[in-house]
Amino acid sequence: MTPPRPATLYALGDLHKHWRPEDAAFLEREAPAHVLFVGDLGDEDVELVRELAAIRVPKAFVLGNHDAWQSFTWKRPTPRLMDSLQALDADHIGYEVRDLPEAGISILGARPFSWGGPGLRSPELYDTLYGVKDMARSAAKIVEAAQRAAHQDLLILAHNGPTGLGAGTGDIYGKDFGREPGGDWGDPDLEEAIARIRDQGFRVRAVVAGHMHHRLAHPRGELRTRYVRRDGVAYVNPAIVPRLRRAEDGTVHAFFLRMRWSAGRMVALEEVWVDLYGTVVEVHRPETVETGS
Ligand SMILES: [Fe+2]
Ligand SMILES: [Fe+2]
Repeated sequence: MTPPRPATLYALGDLHKHWRPEDAAFLEREAPAHVLFVGDLGDEDVELVRELAAIRVPKAFVLGNHDAWQSFTWKRPTPRLMDSLQALDADHIGYEVRDLPEAGISILGARPFSWGGPGLRSPELYDTLYGVKDMARSAAKIVEAAQRAAHQDLLILAHNGPTGLGAGTGDIYGKDFGREPGGDWGDPDLEEAIARIRDQGFRVRAVVAGHMHHRLAHPRGELRTRYVRRDGVAYVNPAIVPRLRRAEDGTVHAFFLRMRWSAGRMVALEEVWVDLYGTVVEVHRPETVETGS
C-alpha cells in the first residue's frame, strides 16, 4: 500500500490589508487541504474579512489585535467586529478545534486578538465574547478545546506565539518595540496551555502564529528569527509584513508559507513567492533554529 500523498496547508501571516484578488485565485487553483490565517487582516476591515471568507478553499482563522482594534478602545465588540465574526462563522476557530483527517491532525485555535505580553488588554472584551476574564481562564479554555480534537497530533493556530521562546528583540516572539525594547512578548496563556495539553498525551507538532513582524523596530531593519524548534514542537511565524514586494522587473510578488503534512507530522515547510499570474517564482526552505528548553 502506498502512503497517502501529504496534505498541503498554506499559512498566511499578518496581511495588514496587503491582499489581491489574484491571491485568492492562486489559492483556489492550488486547492490545498486548508489555508490558515493568523489574523491582523486589516484594522476591523470587515470588507476584507468578507472577501477572504468567500475564497473557495477550506480555511481557518484566528483574528489578531488589529482585527479588533476599535473594540479594545471601546472595551466591547464594535458592530464591525461582530460582522467580521459573523462573516467567518465557524471558520474563526479561536478557542475551537478543526479536525483535518487528510493530514492526521487537529487544528487548535488559541486566544484571538492577542496584543502579546502579560495582559489581556481588555478583559471586558474577552468576557463578553468568550467568558474569559484572565489568562488562567484563557489557558483553560484552550485546553478544553483540545479535548474535542479527534487527533492526538495538533497544529496550534494563534495570533501571537507563546512565552518561553526568548527575550531578545530578534527572538521569534521577543519585544522589539517601545521605549525599552527587549523582553518576552509571547502569550503566557498559550505556554501554559501547551504544557497542559502535552501532559495529557497530545503531541503538539507545530504552533503557527504571527503578530511579531519579520523586520525589527530595534535594532531597526534587522530580521527576526521566525522558525524555531524546541522539544519537538515547530514554532512557525509567517508574518512577513508587508507580504507584497516589488520585484526587480517592477511586478509585485506575494508571500505564502506552504507546509506539507502527512500522518500527523509536518514533512515540509517552504516560503513561496507568487507573481500576479499565480506562478510560483521563488521557493525557499527556511532554516529552523533548534533551541533547548
Ligand atoms: Fe501585525
Ligand atoms: Fe498583531
